[in-house]
Amino acid sequence: MSENELDTSQACVIVPQRVSIEPFTMVIFGGSGDLSQRKLLPTLYHLCNDQNLPDDFAIIGFASTERSDEEYRELVRNALEKFGDYKIHPECWEKFSNNLYYVAGGFDDDSSYKKLAARLEQLAKPSDDGKKEILYYMAVPPQFLPDIFERLSLCTTCDKTFDARLIIEKPFGRDRDSATALNKLISGKFKESQIYRIDHYLGKETVQNILFFRFANSIFEPLWNRRYIDHVQITVAESLGVENRARFYEQAGVVRDIVQNHMMQLLAMVAMEPPIGFEADYIRSEKVKVYRTIRPMTADYIDKFTVRGQYGSGTVNNSEVPSYRDEKNIAPESETATFFAAKFYIDSWRWAGVPFYLRTGKRLQKRITEISIHFKQPPLSLFNTTCEIREPNVLVLGVQPDEEIILHFGVKHPGIGNQLFPVNMNFQYERDLQGEVHFPLPYERLLLDCMKGDQTLFARQDGIEAMWSVVDPIIKRWDNTPAPQFPNYQSGSWGPEESNELLRNDSRQWRI
Ligand code: BG6
Repeated sequence: MSENELDTSQACVIVPQRVSIEPFTMVIFGGSGDLSQRKLLPTLYHLCNDQNLPDDFAIIGFASTERSDEEYRELVRNALEKFGDYKIHPECWEKFSNNLYYVAGGFDDDSSYKKLAARLEQLAKPSDDGKKEILYYMAVPPQFLPDIFERLSLCTTCDKTFDARLIIEKPFGRDRDSATALNKLISGKFKESQIYRIDHYLGKETVQNILFFRFANSIFEPLWNRRYIDHVQITVAESLGVENRARFYEQAGVVRDIVQNHMMQLLAMVAMEPPIGFEADYIRSEKVKVYRTIRPMTADYIDKFTVRGQYGSGTVNNSEVPSYRDEKNIAPESETATFFAAKFYIDSWRWAGVPFYLRTGKRLQKRITEISIHFKQPPLSLFNTTCEIREPNVLVLGVQPDEEIILHFGVKHPGIGNQLFPVNMNFQYERDLQGEVHFPLPYERLLLDCMKGDQTLFARQDGIEAMWSVVDPIIKRWDNTPAPQFPNYQSGSWGPEESNELLRNDSRQWRI
């Protein structure tokens, strides 16, 4: 074989990736809260169990209730049993629990931070370069963030010997102004390279795969534009209701909870231009460009092309469920929206005139997140067919629960006639990579990235502000105009009828 010839007999070898993580200390503000118990602590245990954590690490829960380290370990153990999907192995638990600590304190109480600083002095282990890496995880509602940021720098935990990183949960602020103020407050004390604004959707394998799929294959990218694509649909449907997060949700509603962050991230992954490299800032800059080219929505546009809804009672997964207003701690006259649908336009060279339909809601018929790219019909119908409806090519990127890619196209139905028949090509991670596939939990990937110092999957300051700029007008308009007669969709349905109408008016329909 000559030097220039490619040896195609060589299969691509997937090398199992091991990461080398420096010793670290993680302080979890809100260390006994819902997010910590459901997601963070099980994920950290998972990482420990998979031997992805270094030998030297410490996790310090910080919360207001007085409790000892021992009592905190007990709480964590219960959380792992309840929410973890891993069997607890005695040896791993011993290692993990020996590294768990607790500090009781108020977020606005200076002396608590001094206590924390003393604990850090005693517990934090240096890495090879002598620095002590501290990850501050903000698992608290956004209103507590200013108090915490103010005080973090009051104690000694941010001085030269410590390499501090902040991990901040969504929603980051309540609107663009508050997000800007928060960014300003943080940037006075920390550098952007220390800030990790987390969105767990970016930790999902299939969301990351969108970029691989688009930019590692030459057959789709040439078609990925207004010349070939008729429209795009993005659905993030949940069967769950508000669960035990009523207080948060009443303040947030669907736009702040899902649209401003998860949906904007999905939209950007589909619509962005190729980055010049797979590095954090290249990718994040391309995403910001997408948000800036989304057509700003006027009041008139919002009235015509957005749909809000709130769930009534109904049946989901064969169980009777109450209406949103009948859920615990929800105001009986609440006007909080639990459903959102809208048509967006991205006024760029690539996407001019292509509608992006976005839809999300709680208590819908099933949990499914998918993006579908609907291609234009061929210009002429050359084939006679008994079926009136010609199905366009559709490419479906299934994010969850089935991680799959489906290409929908037409073939000739066998027989003497010339009948067109729709079929699918389907790639499923689970089925097609049998035995080789391990899906890290979203938080697993994101926490490891933060420990490694890789910001690619975290939102940058300008990205967060640009995402708020997209949704702020919708939130304001909805706040200032009377809501439709809520509840306006049944639990277990696909949302209010207006959502179907939104597409019907454009002679289209939701794929699911
Ligand atoms: C969270 C929202 O960010 O995402 C929740 O606050 C929502 O309301 C959840 O239920 C959905 O995440 P997933 O991974 O189950 O799609």
